[in-house]
Amino acid sequence: MNTYLLAPDAATVELLRNTVQSQSLTVKSALVRAAGQSLLPLLQNIESGILLLCSSQAQLAEDLETLESMTWSNPQLSVVLISDSDTKENLMRAMRAGIREVVASPPAQSDLIAALRRVVGHHGKTRNADDSFVGTGKVVAFISCKGGSGSTFLATNMAYLIADTFNRRCVLVDLDLQYGDASYYMSQDDAKNNISDLTQQIDRLDAQLLSSCMQRITPRLNLLAAPNEPGVALAITANQLEQVLTLAKRMHEFVVLDLDSAIDAVTLKALDMADVVFVTMECNLPVVRNAKRLVKLFHSLGYGDDKLKLLVNKFQSDGVLDVKSIEQAVAIKVNHTIPNQVEAVTEAFNLGRPLELLHPQNGVLKALREITSSLLHTPLPKTRGWMDRLMGKAA
Ligand SMILES: Nc1ncnc2c1ncn2[C@@H]1O[C@H](COP(=O)(O)OP(=O)(O)OP(=O)(O)O)[C@@H](O)[C@H]1O
Ligand SMILES: [Mg+2]
Repeated sequence: MNTYLLAPDAATVELLRNTVQSQSLTVKSALVRAAGQSLLPLLQNIESGILLLCSSQAQLAEDLETLESMTWSNPQLSVVLISDSDTKENLMRAMRAGIREVVASPPAQSDLIAALRRVVGHHGKTRNADDSFVGTGKVVAFISCKGGSGSTFLATNMAYLIADTFNRRCVLVDLDLQYGDASYYMSQDDAKNNISDLTQQIDRLDAQLLSSCMQRITPRLNLLAAPNEPGVALAITANQLEQVLTLAKRMHEFVVLDLDSAIDAVTLKALDMADVVFVTMECNLPVVRNAKRLVKLFHSLGYGDDKLKLLVNKFQSDGVLDVKSIEQAVAIKVNHTIPNQVEAVTEAFNLGRPLELLHPQNGVLKALREITSSLLHTPLPKTRGWMDRLMGKAA
């Protein structure tokens, strides 16, 4: 496995090199980083393996911000942070930035070896025979401020982009438990099983059972459908949902949730587990009022601006409301607007196909690609050739 070393002086670089090599790992690059030197340019071309990084107290905040983007976009990269600051606050920040191990600085060789062994053990598990991801996927939730704002359409089409444009293993979980219709946006075949087939036998829940209940939409995209009957949905508990999502996160790099706009214990559990919540609203006055209430509730639950993202769907630039007045009314920045394109969106819905396959140049898709690219901290891959698209191949 490749390792990348970044330390403030030659002696520490050598210590790291010796330690890494003692564990039969390959040193791909070893650099001395001058004080104050920005981290980002030094991380070019690092995508997978182990990064051992020394970060001084002065650099830590900026480094963690840079690393957070990296760990989102490169789930196969593990970072071992060597830091002289081990306050609870900094450890929490490191955890949020996706750092796998923190070793006190100056590093003792025994601590480094123990950390490396844990990371290597984790990597060994990250790909098993059937290529299931075994890591910690990100949870991305969509919730409408009012029914019909477009959360299902956006969630399903984003899931498709994550899987087939950005090449990440993804599952769409339809958590509009009583009236879920995500499957209609993704496929013309009825899902044979659904989430209630899991929650009804929660004691047996494992990767095999989850796999058997998901519908495979494309090689990298799964759907866990909502129950067929509203009554069955009522029996699903927050605790059961937590177990299902925890397992789904181990098997997918991204877990996209389409939530019911009514808040109950199950929805709250899903929202709490989400790393990002896209609050979806249409551009009219009654919806603005709902959006304001919802955002206020989320703020009271402690969700910060890094978690909440407001999407204004079916946006018309000549409409009554502009972005500024929405932001003032809802008390949160608009993350993105998505244009109103009834014809293309309705066609995609009627055919049960993602917009990407029908109208790749559509403005709705352009907006959704930008949102997904920034969510994944990954630039949009080069446009796929028409033949690849036709054959359903990844970029
Ligand atoms: N950008 C758009 N332009 C035009 N029509 C759209 C757009 N986004 C969604 N729609 C349409 O709006 C309608 C509602 O969308 P959707 O079902 O995704 O909303 P929802 O928030 O999930 O609603 P529900 O509360 O019923 O679950 C659908 O007919 C969908 O095709
Ligand atoms: Mg919906």
